[in-house]
Amino acid sequence: MSAILSLIYLIAAVTYIVGLKMLGNPKTARRGNLIAASGMVLAILGTIFLYDKQVPLLIHGLIWSAIILGSIAGWIIARKVEMTKMPELVSMFNGMGGASAALIGIIEFQNGPDSLTSTIVIVAGVIIGSISLSGSLIAWAKLNGNMKSTIRLPKYNIINNLFILATLAMGFYIVWSGGASPLYIYLLFLIALTYGVLFVIPIGGADMPVVISLLNSFTGIAAAFTGFLFDNMVMLAGGILVGSAGLILTFAMCEAMNRPLSNVVFGAFGGDDSSAGEASSGVTQGSIKKTTPSDAAILMNYANRVIIVPGYGLAVAQAQHVIHELELLLESKGVEVAYAIHPVAGRMPGHMNVLLAETNVDYDKLVEMDDINPVFSNTDAVLVIGANDVVNPAAHNDPSSPIYGMPILEAENAKSIIINKRTMNPGYAGIQNELFFNAKTSMLFGDAKDVLTKLVQELKNM
Ligand code: TAP
Repeated sequence: MSAILSLIYLIAAVTYIVGLKMLGNPKTARRGNLIAASGMVLAILGTIFLYDKQVPLLIHGLIWSAIILGSIAGWIIARKVEMTKMPELVSMFNGMGGASAALIGIIEFQNGPDSLTSTIVIVAGVIIGSISLSGSLIAWAKLNGNMKSTIRLPKYNIINNLFILATLAMGFYIVWSGGASPLYIYLLFLIALTYGVLFVIPIGGADMPVVISLLNSFTGIAAAFTGFLFDNMVMLAGGILVGSAGLILTFAMCEAMNRPLSNVVFGAFGGDDSSAGEASSGVTQGSIKKTTPSDAAILMNYANRVIIVPGYGLAVAQAQHVIHELELLLESKGVEVAYAIHPVAGRMPGHMNVLLAETNVDYDKLVEMDDINPVFSNTDAVLVIGANDVVNPAAHNDPSSPIYGMPILEAENAKSIIINKRTMNPGYAGIQNELFFNAKTSMLFGDAKDVLTKLVQELKNM
């Protein structure tokens, strides 16, 4: 039996790796997700049916009830969630993973760890799982607006450092004292939970995707500790993959924003979308030129090549279907169309890819930043829809800008630039965009969906 279970675990671990690899490309991502999920189902069923110890019927009943209830709730929530709410959902799921790791650690501690290594692993799992649980719940509350974006207690850095020290000291005490009373593990759980709250509350709402990714990797590490504890290879492999993928993603996002992780964690900008708007909305850099859907449609109608730059505003307006309609319409008129995808456009990794995939945009039309940048200078018109920071030339030109050094889409090199947004308010970074004041730029104000619908109408009439 145990040989079959080991084989099942091996197959499951391979499906996770294959699935992860396939998630790297929009064409294969859906299948990759299914493959990894099938591996997970196989591992769960194998564990339930092939476990070599006798499990009481009551426990079987509890396990199946949890699986059925969890699956139904997960299915309903995942079906209903909007794309812009995805980071919230990931955060909640992640918190549940952290809770599982912490609770397993507490129970195993009460059962009495059989070695020093087990105690260390349990303590580490409880600390990391608890931080991930409370941190993810705070991130979730901030993202859904139930909590103020940035809460900074006086001397919050000192308080946070004291709490992390207290957490580590309690962990060391439990390991050092060997068979400490279960009370201590509860105390550790509480202190680590508090640290998770303190860690996340000062971080700005718009930085949450980076924090969620970091907490996600914490949950993976906590799960890996649990896998080690139970000598369960598939849990260990899954935990390591989640932990390392989460870390890679965290650093990739920081790199794409040209900000070190410390800057995100200790917060420098992007604290709050609305306050960021207030902070710099008064800044002007010359005059802007306004345009109308009718003039913008004429410009695109006679272009040879149009590049669309989608951003966060496209997702907010849920304008993905109408932008696809515009793309098809332009192509039917002989215009070559491509989408320029910045790695951190939107508010979560791959946001634009997922949004546009929803409307069956041809994946070959989604061009990565490094590949599309040389094409801008041969482009007649760029249509920027609800994007701001990712096209801000200050990233190249202004060493004093907070986004200086961030790689951007070089829309400024195109022959003409049409920018759609609702107001002159800045984007996530809270800074004004010099591209709006460029002589080649025309501002097309309005909600992305309304404006695109009008553009489509104008083009149809031509
Ligand atoms: P932003 O710089 O945030 O700009 C979005 C723009 O969309 C805003 O200027 C807003 O202007 C406009 N907008 C909002 N709702 C709209 C609507 N209904 N119709 C039309 N326009 C609308 O977005 P971006 O260019 O996509 O850049 C993303 C930013 O998020 C970057 O700074 C990035 O570093 C940061 N970030 C991204 C991630 C990931 S992984 N994607 C993670 C963390 C941080 P108005 O209010 O005037 O309309």
